[in-house]
Amino acid sequence: MCGIVGYVGERDISSVLLVGLERLSYRGYDSSGISIISNGELSTWKKQGKIVELNNLLSGLSIKGSLGIGQTRWATHGVPNEVNAHPHFSETKKIALVHNGIIENYMEIKKRLIKNGHIFRSETDTEVLIHSIEEHLETTDSLLEALEKTLSEIVGTYSIATISEADPEKIVIARKGSPLIIALGKDENFVSSDINAILTHTKKVIYLEDNEIGYVTKTSTFVKEIGGSEVQKEVKVIDWSPTDAEKNGYEHYMLKEIFEQPSVIRNIISKYIDKDNNITLSKIHQPNLDISNVNRFIIQACGTSWHAGLIAKYLIESYARVLTEVDISSEFRYRQMITQGHDIVMAISQSGETADTLACIREAKSKFFKVLSFVNVKESSIDRESDGVVYSYAGQEIGVASTKNFIAQLATIYIFSIHLGLAKKHLNKEQASEMIQELRRIPDYIESILKKSEEIRTIAEKYCFSREFLFIGRGVNYPTALEGALKLKEISYIHATGYAAGELKHGPIALIDAKLPVVCVAPQTLTYEKMVSNIQEVKTRKGKTIIIATQGDEDIKSLADDIIYIPKASEDLTPILASVPLQLISYYIALKLDCDVDQPRNLAKSVTVE
Ligand code: F6R
Repeated sequence: MCGIVGYVGERDISSVLLVGLERLSYRGYDSSGISIISNGELSTWKKQGKIVELNNLLSGLSIKGSLGIGQTRWATHGVPNEVNAHPHFSETKKIALVHNGIIENYMEIKKRLIKNGHIFRSETDTEVLIHSIEEHLETTDSLLEALEKTLSEIVGTYSIATISEADPEKIVIARKGSPLIIALGKDENFVSSDINAILTHTKKVIYLEDNEIGYVTKTSTFVKEIGGSEVQKEVKVIDWSPTDAEKNGYEHYMLKEIFEQPSVIRNIISKYIDKDNNITLSKIHQPNLDISNVNRFIIQACGTSWHAGLIAKYLIESYARVLTEVDISSEFRYRQMITQGHDIVMAISQSGETADTLACIREAKSKFFKVLSFVNVKESSIDRESDGVVYSYAGQEIGVASTKNFIAQLATIYIFSIHLGLAKKHLNKEQASEMIQELRRIPDYIESILKKSEEIRTIAEKYCFSREFLFIGRGVNYPTALEGALKLKEISYIHATGYAAGELKHGPIALIDAKLPVVCVAPQTLTYEKMVSNIQEVKTRKGKTIIIATQGDEDIKSLADDIIYIPKASEDLTPILASVPLQLISYYIALKLDCDVDQPRNLAKSVTVE
C-alpha cells in the first residue's frame, strides 16, 4: 500500500526520493509523486503508473534542493490519476503533503472548507488536510502547529509528511494507525513509512508511535504527543541487510523467495532449537503473558497468514489439547468476543502492520485479553503492541504474494505447538525430540522439490489457459489447498477456489467437467484413503487432476492426469512440502500469462487500511 519517503540533506534530492520510492514499490501502488523545495520554491511532480514514468518526467531537469517528500499511492478514494496522486499542495502551492491512511470524516471537513472558499482539485480524502493546514496557517507561522490543529479535527488513520516554503528546513510528520519512522544519518535525515526506503543509507531509526507529531531537520529531530508535551525517543539500530532486497539473479523476487525456503527453515531452527532439540522461545514468556495456563487461543489473521492460522489450530489442539478458534481479522474485529479468562488472542502477520489484525489486538487488549503474535517484521506495530512474540525469521519478503513467509509461519507455529505441548505435558521430551528431527529434514526435502521446478513448469504451462481451477485437500492440507488457490488467483488473475475435499459433494462437484483442472493435495496422511475417494469422484466426472502425492505412492498415479511427488514426511509438515509445488505452479502459470508476478494488479504488500 501507499509508501512515504522524505529527505533533508545535501545529496541529490530527486534521486534520493526516487530511489526511496522504488524501494517502496514492492508494497503495491498505482501512482507516485514528489515535492521538493528548491531555491526557496516548492515544486511538485506526479505521475500515474510506474515510478519509471515519474523518473522520465524528471529526467533532464536540474533540481537543486535539500528538502523533499514523496509518495507511492495505492488508490482508495478516487481513481489512480495525476490529480489524485500525492503530494497534494495548497492553493498557494507553497505547502505540500503526503498521507497514508484514511480520513474517515473528510466529507464533513470538506464541506466546511468549501464554504470557507477552498477549491478542491482531487477526489481524495487527503486533500482536506492540506486545505485545513493552509487555513490554520492564517493564525500561526508554525507548520507543526497548523498540522496539530488540523489533526485535532480528524477521525481516521494517518502517517503524514508535510513541507512548506515558509519553513524550508523542516519535514513535519505525524502518525496515527499507519507506520512512520525517522531515519538518522550524518548531517542528513530521512522519514519513511517503511524501513526499506532508507536501509541503504542508515540503520538508525526512531519509530513514531500513534498520536505523535514532530519534525526533522538536517541535524535535529523533535517529537511530541499531539496536544501534549515533548517525547524523548529511543534510537534503535536495525539488524537487516539491504541485500535482502536484491533479486540475486532470479527473474522475480517471488522465485528467489521460493528458492530461499530451505535456508529460511534452517535459520528458524538455528534461532529456536539447540543441538539437543531443546526449544527456546524467549519472547513468549514475558512477565505478563503466561502460556502454560492458557485455556483457549483465538487466532486472527488475514489472507495467507489466516491459512497459517488454520493449520495452527490443528497443531495446537493436537499437541497441547488447547481449544483454538481461528477467525479472519476483519470479521473478528466486529463480533462480540466472549472472555472466559486465560484466553490468549494470537495474531499472525508477516508485515506486522495489517490494519485489521492490528485493530483486533488493540480491541482484544482493551477487553483484557493477552496477545501473542507471530510476526516477520521486527519492531512493526503488531510486534511492539503484543505481550509476547514469535518472529518468523523469513527475512524481507518483497514479492507481494507471500511464499517464504508462509513456510516460515508454518515452521514457527510447529515449533511453538511442540513447545506448548511440552508445557502442557501432553508431549514428552522424546516425542518432542522426534518431531524436531522431522523438522530438521524439511530443508533438504524442499531442496529436492525445487530440483523438479522444470517438471513443475511443464505441468503448469499445460494448464495455463484454463480460466478456473479447483484446489482440494483434507485435514492439515485443507488450508494448504486454500493457500494454493489464493496464490494462483493473486498472481495469474485466474479464478481459483480452495475446498475441503469432503465438501465437494455438498455443492462444488457441480463445477467439475472435462475442462476443469483440479489440484489435489494428497500426501499419505490420516485422511489419505478419504482423499483418494474424493479424487475418484473428480475423475469419474472427467475433471483433470494434478495430484501432489507422497514419493513412492504408485497407486494414486492411475487417478492423475499429472502428478508431482513430494518426500515422505510427518503429516503435520506436509503443508510445508505441498505448498512448494503449488507456489511454483502459480508462478509458472503467471509467468506464461505475462502477469506482473511481483506486483500483481490491485494488491498491496502491507494492507495498512481497513
Ligand atoms: C497473500 C498475502 C496476503 C497477506 C495478508 C496479511 O499472498 O500476502 O494475503 O497474507 O494481506 O498480511 P500480513 O501477513 O502482513 O498481516
